Formats: sequence, structure tokens, C-alpha cells
Amino acid sequence: MTDAVKSKHFSDPVDLNTIEYDCWHMLRAAVHDRSCGWRLPVLATCSNGEVRQRTVVLRKVERSARRILVHTDLRSPKLKSINNNPDVSWLFYDAVCQVQLQLTGLATVHTDDKIAEQLWQHETESSLRGYLAPYVPGTVRSVPESNLPDDMRQRIPKRDQLSAARENFAVISGAVKIADWLLLRPDGNLRARFTYEDGSVSSGNWLAP
Ligand SMILES: Cc1cc2nc3c(=O)[nH]c(=O)nc-3n(C[C@H](O)[C@H](O)[C@H](O)COP(=O)(O)O)c2cc1C
Repeated sequence: MTDAVKSKHFSDPVDLNTIEYDCWHMLRAAVHDRSCGWRLPVLATCSNGEVRQRTVVLRKVERSARRILVHTDLRSPKLKSINNNPDVSWLFYDAVCQVQLQLTGLATVHTDDKIAEQLWQHETESSLRGYLAPYVPGTVRSVPESNLPDDMRQRIPKRDQLSAARENFAVISGAVKIADWLLLRPDGNLRARFTYEDGSVSSGNWLAP
């Protein structure tokens, strides 16, 4: 997405329906656009009193279900947290549009279903290589550790060398319940909130920024 295309989003932010449409349009575009800040949201989880945040890559957006998907290591601590408490928040900011989007909703972990399989098939070998990690992410090591098998550090595996990685591959889907949108403008910021039920908009309101 070029800056010119991006600036079309939220260029005339007076209509709540258009803003909601633009949010999901820009989310979908961000999946394929490395220059868009929304491609790298921060996912926040909270479990047993511990709040954690981490950057993730947005991999798929289903506008019709108001659902977003990322992939991760099945052994990673964030999945334990989500299994304990599926309430999560996703934070997006794009510096060109100057729009922040906070999505709140329920996360689901997918391992062996159609959703996980589709993303696995769709992803490139280079983005799947990390799932060959021999150690559980976050394991304490006595030396600097890339957590890649020795023979994979300098090269990208072929598909048929990734079968062990499939065991560690999981998808997190986020069903969005609330979207909180904030546009920064020199002449005054604007803020709106949308709520969803079963993937459909149930309310949209302007908020004081
Ligand atoms: C730019 C960037 C993109 C990242 N993308 C992902 C991702 O898509 N999935 C993922 O699990 N971790 C991703 N990470 C690593 C996470 O931020 C985090 O360090 C890791 O997943 C461990 O998190 P956890 O200990 O909370 O489970 C990314 C990190 C950065 C800096």
C-alpha cells in the first residue's frame, strides 16, 4: 500500500460506517504491506494476574467474521495464557495515517483444524523456519541462542524439511468484540468505538478522544 493509497483511508472521517469499513479494509491490506504499521500489532494477554504484550505479524483478516489471525509457536507462553484466559487486546498504530486501533475480543488457538492448515500451506518456508526451534521459546540458555537447528541457520528449508515445524505451528484467531479507533489530526483528534456481535456491527459511537 503506497502512502497515497493509505491516505485515502480515513480521509473524510465524518461517517461512522465509512470509518468501520476503512478499518477492516486497511487491516486486510496490511497483511500484504510491509510498510503499514498495522501489519505488526501488539497482542496483550492477561492470565493469573500477569499482563504480557508482544509484537506479532498480522497474517490474515476475515472482514466478514471480524476476525484476525496470526501464527505462533504452540509451545510459547502466550498460548498458556490464552488457554487460561482468552480475553485479549490487539494494538495497531500506523504512523502515516496516524491512526491507532485497539481491538478487544476472544482468542482461540488452532493447531489441527482447517484454519491452522490453511495458514500453514499459505505461508512461505522462510516464515515457517522458526517453528523448527529445538527449544521451547523462552527456555533459559547459558549461551546466546538463535533457537534454530545448526543446519538451518544459513538457509531456508524446503517444504519437505518442515514436517517437524508443523508440530510446533499454531494459529491464534481473534474474534473482535470491540474496535476503538483514534485518528490524530492537527485540528483535533477524532475517536470512535464499534462493538460486534457474532461478527456483525452491533453499535458505533463517537467518543471524546
Ligand atoms: C517484528 C516482530 C514480529 C513478530 N512476530 C511474531 C509472530 O507473528 N508470532 C509470534 O509468536 N511471535 C512473534 N514475534 C515474537 C514475539 O514478539 C515474542 O517475543 C514471542 O512470540 C514470545 O512471546 P511469548 O513469550 O509472550 O509467548 C515477533 C517479534 C517481532 C519483533
